[in-house]
Amino acid sequence: MSGPRIVIVDDAEELSRASADLVAETITRVPAASVVVATGRTPMGLYAELAARRQAGVIDTDGITVIQLDEYLGLDADDRRSLFGWMRRSFLDPLGIRDERVIRLPLDGDLSERCAAFDRCLEARGGIDVAILGLGANGHLGFNEPPADRDARTRAVDLSVVTIRSNAAYWGEVADVPTQAVTVGLRALLSARTIVLLVSGRGKNEIVHRVIEGPIGPEVPASFLQEAGDAVTVFADLAAWGDDG
Ligand code: PGA
Repeated sequence: MSGPRIVIVDDAEELSRASADLVAETITRVPAASVVVATGRTPMGLYAELAARRQAGVIDTDGITVIQLDEYLGLDADDRRSLFGWMRRSFLDPLGIRDERVIRLPLDGDLSERCAAFDRCLEARGGIDVAILGLGANGHLGFNEPPADRDARTRAVDLSVVTIRSNAAYWGEVADVPTQAVTVGLRALLSARTIVLLVSGRGKNEIVHRVIEGPIGPEVPASFLQEAGDAVTVFADLAAWGDDG
C-alpha cells in the first residue's frame, strides 16, 4: 500500500480550493456520503468554497450525512464555545444540511456506553466516506490527544495543555477553554475511505513533518495516517510544509 498523498500548495486560499476539489469529487461520486466535519480555523476556507460551489449549482450536498468530530463537555447547548454551533455556522447552514442529516456525539448519560453505541452506529452505516480533519499542534486528530492508540474508540477525554492553549485563541483565554471533550476515536477516523488532512501556517511546520515522516506511534496520533495509505491526502501550504520541503 502506498503512503499518504501530499499536496503542497502556495497558500491558504489554494489549500481551500484544492481540498474542495477532492471533497466535491467524492460527494459527487457518493451522493449519500457520510462526512466527518472538523471545526478549527484551517478548514473554514474549504467550507466557504464548498458553499460557494453549492450556491453556483456545481455540487449537491442534499444527500450527505454529517458526522460530528468532537465536542467540549460541560457546556450548555447555546454556549458560544459549542463546537456544534461552530459547525452549524460554518458548514451545516451554508451547505443547507438539515438537523436530521447530522449525527451528533453523546454528551451526557453513560458516556462510555453511549460512545460505544455511537461507534456501532457508524459501523452499521458502513463507516465514514470522507473525514475532513485539521492537525493539532500536538499531532492530535479530533481530540485524540497523545498518547492515543490507532485502536482508540469514540470516548470522553481530558484535553491536553497544548490543545487548551491553542483553543484559547478561539474563545479568549485559557480559562475559557473547557478541559474535557468527546471525540470520535482514531479507529473510526483511520478507516474512513477518504481522509483529508488540512495543514496551514508556519506553526504546523514541525508537527506536519513528524506526522508524515516521523516514527508511527501514540505520541503523535496523526502519525497513524501513514498506515492508512492512499486513502489519505494531506493538503499543506508552503508556510506549513516549508520552502525546502
Ligand atoms: P486549527 O486547529 O485548524 O485551528 O489549527 C486544528 C486542530 O487543533 O485540530
